[in-house]
This record gives sequence, C-alpha cells and structure tokens, in this order.
Amino acid sequence: KKVVLAYSGGLDTSIILKWLQTEFRAEVVTFTADLGQGEEVEPARQKALLMGIKPENIFIDDLREEFVRDFVFPMFRANTVYEGQYLLGTSIARPLIAKRQIEIARAVGADAVCHGATGKGNDQVRFELGYYALEPDIRVVAPWREWDFASREQLLAFAEQHQIPIAKDKRGDAPFSVDANLLHSSSEGKVLEDPAVEAPEYVHQRTISPEDAPDKPTLITIKFERGDPVAIDGERLSPASLLTKLNQLGHDNGIGRLDLVENRFVGMKSRGVYETPGGAILLAAHRGMESITLDAGSMHLKDSIMPRYAGLIYNGFWFAPEREMLQALIDKSQEHVTGTVRVKLYKGNATVVGRESSHSLYDQELVTFEEGKTAYDHRDAAGFIKLNALRLRGLAKRDLRAK
Ligand code: ARG
Ligand code: SIN
Repeated sequence: KKVVLAYSGGLDTSIILKWLQTEFRAEVVTFTADLGQGEEVEPARQKALLMGIKPENIFIDDLREEFVRDFVFPMFRANTVYEGQYLLGTSIARPLIAKRQIEIARAVGADAVCHGATGKGNDQVRFELGYYALEPDIRVVAPWREWDFASREQLLAFAEQHQIPIAKDKRGDAPFSVDANLLHSSSEGKVLEDPAVEAPEYVHQRTISPEDAPDKPTLITIKFERGDPVAIDGERLSPASLLTKLNQLGHDNGIGRLDLVENRFVGMKSRGVYETPGGAILLAAHRGMESITLDAGSMHLKDSIMPRYAGLIYNGFWFAPEREMLQALIDKSQEHVTGTVRVKLYKGNATVVGRESSHSLYDQELVTFEEGKTAYDHRDAAGFIKLNALRLRGLAKRDLRAK
C-alpha cells in the first residue's frame, strides 16, 4: 500500500504519518504545500526524513500563485460570500490541495490519499469530493474517523512512544484550531466555542485591531483587468504578490476581521473568527469596479446566482459541472470589468472613494440634475410610472372595495 498524505509538518499530521506507517502499514509519500500560510514548509522535509520517508517520496510545492490565480481570483469575480459574510478562505484552498495530491498519487503510483481533517467538519467533505471528482476509484484514508485513539492523551502517548517531538505549547490542548493561507486565517473551537463570548484579542493573527489602527487614512488605487486585480498604486504585481500586498495594507488598518456563526455542511452550527485583510479590500474594490462597468441586468443576475455558487464552494463541489457552469457565466460578465478603483483604508474599513474606466457605462450627461439635451425625456417617465402602477392600483381598488 502506498498513500499520499497532506502533511503540514505539525504534530497532528506527524502522528498521522507515523500511524500510517505502523498501524496502517503503508508506504507514505508526504505532500506539503505552501499556500501562503506564513509558516516555513522546508522544515517538513527534515521531519519527514527523520520519520523514515524516502527523499523521492517527499513533495514540497509552492502553490501560492496557482492558488490566487486559479482559485481565489475566479471566486472573487463573483463577489462570493457564504451566508452573507464568510469569504471562504479555507473552503477555496481545499480543492487545490486535493488536486495536487491526486497528481502526486498518479506520479508515484499510490493507491490512496490521506488528509488530517476531523470527522465533524467541512474539510473532510471538501478534500474527499475533490479526490473522487478527479480519481473516482482512489482509496481515501481519514485517520480521525478510523483510528482508535479516544483522547488527546492517547494521541500524545502514541507520539511519545514513536519519538515524535512535541513542542511545549502543544502539550496541553491548543487553545483553538487554526487554518491559514494567503487569503485568510480561521480560528475555531475551544475558547471560541461559546458564541455569546467575545473572542480574546490574541486569537487574531494577521490584523491589528481597528482600535489600534492609525488615525490617518491610507489611500490606494487598484487596477482591474477583466475582473481581476493586476496592479496597486500603478505597480503591476503577480496574483500572489498582489494579495500579499493587500494583506499587509489590511493588517495595518485593522481590516477584514469577522466573528460569525455558520452552518456546516454536516449539519451543525459552528463559531469562527476569521481574518481576511486583503480579501476584504479586494471585495469592496471589485464591487466598486463593477458598479460602473456592469449593466443592471448582468449585475443583478450574477448577484442572484452568487449564494448558490458560494454554497457549492463551501460544500466542496468546486469540481462539479454546475460550479463550472456558474463560473462560465461569471467569467463572461467580467469582460468589461477593467479600470481603476480608489479605496480608502481606515480603522477596519475599506471604502471605495473613486472609480474610473474606459469601459464605463456611467453617463454623467444622462444622470445630471442639470437640464441637458440628452436621450432622456422627463415626460417619458410619467407613462413609465403609470403602466408600472397599473397592477398596484388594481389591487388597491379591490382592497378598498372589500372594506
Ligand atoms: N469553518 C470554516 C470552513 O468550513 C473554516 C474551517 C477551518 N478549518 C480548520 N481546520 N480550522 O471553511
Ligand atoms: C476540521 O474538522 O477538520 C476543521 C473544521 C471543518 O472542517 O469544518
């Protein structure tokens, strides 16, 4: 048996690695991705080697550009939020990890893939729907659902028995569970479990609090081409560098914090504290760009399908045909979403204060309050309103008769 493990190098996936070797009796191939989580990925190589993984079975990939270009940006073209708030930072990373794991499984001739998500959450669903969509007969190993460890103590005892180093701060239970990448950090569980209690400040890892943010606003311009951001303040940047820069600006101004209760696909509600500094700026800016470049019909149509699209990503259906169909519609809508937006960053807010585009549909001549010689004749409005009112008047007459 040969299994490709999504390996972070941390304690939990190290225990999984050892468990796969000793209990599951498999040859293990490790895959560690740099998705911009802000932790070094190279140490994972040393740890894997120490646990007896052959050098040719260690895969370490920098996926940051692919992540932002092919997953984050396409999602932001739809102004995607789940349940009105969540920018899907964890959800959107899972399909990429699954895809790369399957590619590696094929390359090394592995018959199984393994992830470290628990049996209670969304992530197991996302990983596994991704695997099956790409490799229908792959064998999936989900240790959290399969092994016999009944407590944290038993896990740690197993780690000790196999000489897996346990950092001092990992001895006790972690205060909450974290998932991070270039788009966001999420914190869930433990000290955050009571949704009535405000999250302690130390939970936040990539933003200062709005209260501590500078009293002076920061003004930036973001240039868009066909719905994707391509430059900040005139400097052209690759997708990952651009998001990295927005993250820094968001961090410095306390932007993108979120405290919410969401509905997991597996049926329970969970409380999360998320930080999406660059994403929050990008969402505001993209909407600002669309406001002058999309016509009403296009905008309202894409807005109406967005919750459906968000649900597909949240539930792990990135590789499903209906997600691809919606993506085609969204991408088509972005043909003219090109231009520049000015955004003011100030104490937790990203506010659009200016937008310009050579593709603009905004017609100052048409909208102005000054009398102009335009295509718009005020007198047309009277009939327009009368015909729209016809039905409402009929209803009102009926109701008055019934009184
Ligand atoms: N609840 C969020 C989601 O389902 C975040 C999950 C975070 N994952 C984690 N391992 N802490 O997308
Ligand atoms: C997990 O259960 O592994 C994290 C939370 C989630 O997937 O929703």
